[in-house]
Amino acid sequence: MKKHWWQEGVVYQIYPRSFQDSNADGVGDLRGILDRVDYLSDLGVTAVWLSPVYPSPNVDNGYDVADYQCIAPQFGTLQDWDALCAALHARGIRVIMDWVVNHSSDEHPWFAESAASRENAKADYYIWRDPVNGGVPNNWRSCWGGSAWEYVPARGQYYLHLFSKKQPDLNWACAEMREKIYDMMEWWVQRGVDGFRVDAISYLDKPADFPDAAGEAESDGYVLCMNQLTGREKTHVYIHGMQQRLKKYGDVLMIGEVVARDQAHMRRYIAPQCEEFSMAIPFVPPIVEINTWSPAALLRRVAQDWSQTDCGAWWARFLSNHDKPRQVSLYANDGEYWEQSAKMLAAFLYTLPGTPFLYQGEELGMTNVSYAALEDYDDIDTKTFFESLVLGGTSRQEAFALAKKVSRDNARTPMQWDESPNAGFSAGTPWLGVNPNYRRINARAQRKDPLSVWSFYRRLIALRKENPALIYGDFTPLCDPAQEDVLLYTRSFGQETWLVVHNWSALPHNMPEEFAGLGQPLLSGSERQGGYTAGKLRPYETAIWKLKISQKNDEISMITA
Ligand code: NOJ
Repeated sequence: MKKHWWQEGVVYQIYPRSFQDSNADGVGDLRGILDRVDYLSDLGVTAVWLSPVYPSPNVDNGYDVADYQCIAPQFGTLQDWDALCAALHARGIRVIMDWVVNHSSDEHPWFAESAASRENAKADYYIWRDPVNGGVPNNWRSCWGGSAWEYVPARGQYYLHLFSKKQPDLNWACAEMREKIYDMMEWWVQRGVDGFRVDAISYLDKPADFPDAAGEAESDGYVLCMNQLTGREKTHVYIHGMQQRLKKYGDVLMIGEVVARDQAHMRRYIAPQCEEFSMAIPFVPPIVEINTWSPAALLRRVAQDWSQTDCGAWWARFLSNHDKPRQVSLYANDGEYWEQSAKMLAAFLYTLPGTPFLYQGEELGMTNVSYAALEDYDDIDTKTFFESLVLGGTSRQEAFALAKKVSRDNARTPMQWDESPNAGFSAGTPWLGVNPNYRRINARAQRKDPLSVWSFYRRLIALRKENPALIYGDFTPLCDPAQEDVLLYTRSFGQETWLVVHNWSALPHNMPEEFAGLGQPLLSGSERQGGYTAGKLRPYETAIWKLKISQKNDEISMITA
């Protein structure tokens, strides 16, 4: 398999609004990130993915881009971006830009022109349709509720928006528009970008006849169409077009945020011979996941996609990002076992095949927040989800509790740097309330503590970097179906075998018989509790052994290296 720089690294996702504010306006910015580059380098990450920093009216916090070749004044200037890029590169950290091109903002100049008449130069840059029976062209529902179509009197037509009405879908069938997007990608690469995380990419191509979507209407009367649109043939052609343009620049990392129908379809996006993406972030709505999720199921999923090695595919591994609640609250235990379970999640991700993605604050075990009122939340998804529940008959109180639990704002609270006011994030009033637990959970305290979540991440990142078995090793799950909470697997590379165990529960368990005699692990998540005790797994215990396999008289035994 051809090796790439992005396989051996760790990608750190920065949500710039919430990372570090340098000018006291309450919003994080590029100069703020620049002040923290040594923090990133000290942690050991090798690439930074910046969520959008382009000019935007921010209905979806930057995922509504008004200019793809500029920096929003709130975040700084292109010169600030150049300075940040140079500082990161000087530390061996690559730079990945978010690339949001399924849609733009309605405040992008292209849209203003396109919406002005049916005959202008950009008339086809967006998706316009005539009214049908005096109303919307079909039954499609936008992701955040209501029709996916909005009427513009100047054209006497509707435009399509799969997301909010301020995020009109670009028309990828228009070759001129497409070429401009590709030009802009080249422009960023020439400026120093090492890769793109391409947003909502599965929906680029739409059927020309816009048939009604099949399925049940939601409480607003419209039918969610996105799953039915995913991965149409031309979508793959358009993605391939990006690669064709960028090829000449060498190993540009292309991460697709994709929705795939099944494993075979996922291969189409990430098999190297298809020349689409280097790896994929599969998008699974958090609500579905919360109700259906289990550790064993997650491992089964990993085992399933491991079978994609035959096509040379590679994976992005993540448990958090800016669209999901905090991982320790969502998947583990943010109460009694907060520290142990935060470490367990880390050890899980960093020992799986694929490139680990670290979302800011995860290295501190940051948790969900709970604001008192709906008005304290900023996220469009939280608000529209709440409204759709109420519309469907759920009481306001229950709807608020549900919306809070899955709110994307859980992950968007300001970074907790230290115990000073506003957690050291801003000298002004933060755009979103700081999680009040920052006095207990913050970077300054954790960096001084060798047993903290932060120190554990740092050790794990270094361990992965130094041991090819954890990067390229074969993955073999060894789970006992009767013990769903205990996840066990090996990574094998040449003569080396690594054994990894996680007790994904608040109950103690025994180590499976055949491994009960193993000595001290190389890395244990329970050092503060006294460390690993042979044969026993404490609640949320995680441990990693490097094993030597010895073979005497036909008997194979494993000993700790
Ligand atoms: C996925 C992004 O991660 C999310 O934050 C955004 O709301 C949608 N795409 C629309 O761009």
